[in-house]
Amino acid sequence: MKKIILNHKSYLGYNETIKYIEEIKKIKQKDVEIIIYPSVPFIALYKDIKNIGAQNFYSYNYGSYTGEINLESLKSMNINYTLIGHSERKKYKLDNYEQIKDKLFKSINAGFETILCVGELEYIKKPIKYIYKELNYLIKSIDYEKLNKLKIAYEPSWAIGSGETPEINEIEKIITNIKKYFEKKYEIQIEVYYGGSVDESNIKEILKVSDGVLIGKKSTNIEELKKIISQISQNN
Ligand code: PGA
Repeated sequence: MKKIILNHKSYLGYNETIKYIEEIKKIKQKDVEIIIYPSVPFIALYKDIKNIGAQNFYSYNYGSYTGEINLESLKSMNINYTLIGHSERKKYKLDNYEQIKDKLFKSINAGFETILCVGELEYIKKPIKYIYKELNYLIKSIDYEKLNKLKIAYEPSWAIGSGETPEINEIEKIITNIKKYFEKKYEIQIEVYYGGSVDESNIKEILKVSDGVLIGKKSTNIEELKKIISQISQNN
């Protein structure tokens, strides 16, 4: 089933979140799976909703890590997804590659469905070369038999929040190549998503060439989200 991943980043406040939860519960969509990554301070409010993800975490265990989020506390709220390597965390120097690699190892080992974001940080002609480099460095940390927990999101940084996306055949080419990379190297089929300015005008065609999409800003407005989702129903 295709995945629709809602990344709320840091857009919503407390009252807006309460309202959002009431509204999102009313959306019934059986053709796709919706996964929500709430703004971090409000994640516990989503405890009773299925498929919730953590935009960030630091360590595995409870303990002396002032201000940090750990995987054990996420587990205690039934959070089952993590997001690692988002370009905004790279851009604002919140995570470097060594930290991304470490988080990947911890998240996969703790049994979370783990979405790893890859993609160029500025426009380049052959992004796939850049992506191979990222994968070569990062995937080494994962135990082979746990690779089924990994999902990849192709997110060109220049497309995020810009209203621009790569050409659809370019998205298709990159997604196919990432899939081939895992087939050849690890003999597994992996889900690959696309993120960056997904909206009601392009979601249909992007879903045709991907296993799912990440929607940022537009997913924080419930009316916009409904419009986007209505396109998917027309797709089936
Ligand atoms: P956007 O963000 O939809 O606001 O472009 C996507 C993302 O960062 O995952």
